[in-house]
Amino acid sequence: MSHAEDHDDDTRRDFLFYAAGGTGAIIAAAAVRGMINQMAPSADVQAASTMRQDVSAIEPGTQVTVLFQGKPVFIRRRLPEEVEAARSVELSELIDVGAENANLPDDAEATDENRTVPPLEGEDTGEWLVMVGLCTHFGCVPLGDGAGDYNGWFCPCHGSHYDTSGRIRKGPAPRNLAIPSASFVEEEVILLG
Ligand code: FES
Repeated sequence: MSHAEDHDDDTRRDFLFYAAGGTGAIIAAAAVRGMINQMAPSADVQAASTMRQDVSAIEPGTQVTVLFQGKPVFIRRRLPEEVEAARSVELSELIDVGAENANLPDDAEATDENRTVPPLEGEDTGEWLVMVGLCTHFGCVPLGDGAGDYNGWFCPCHGSHYDTSGRIRKGPAPRNLAIPSASFVEEEVILLG
């Protein structure tokens, strides 16, 4: 190999090195731009961070599932007997004694009263239960409407039973179904988020 060819090879190697380096820099810049764009939520993302849900059409003893922030949310209008069943349970019978309620402090206990959404006015009968509809084991969507051994929700993936307050009572799930940030903002409208 002549000296000139040797030099050409070096030049080509340098060129390839710089080209690769340049591509990396472009990718890095694009990634940073993407991160900055993600840090400034667009108007539709901001709007999606809360949701108003009219619950006037939900009959006692039934529930609806709405999609909020990409997750199913169960809104159940409980019958008095469901409330009574939930309120007759002692904390010592529970697997998870935490309320798991985003509206309460982290150390709130899992009494049924600590898991329901109070009405805007009047007596809190405990009829409204709003929960993230994802099993706390591996995130399957539990079946509702009185399913499972505790007449609440049942996750068929690995057999977790939740009671009429959405508290885990049997099976591998470690925690009660989560209560999202939720409150009544009108007599029959719940604000999520
Ligand atoms: Fe529900 Fe495993 S995901 S029991």
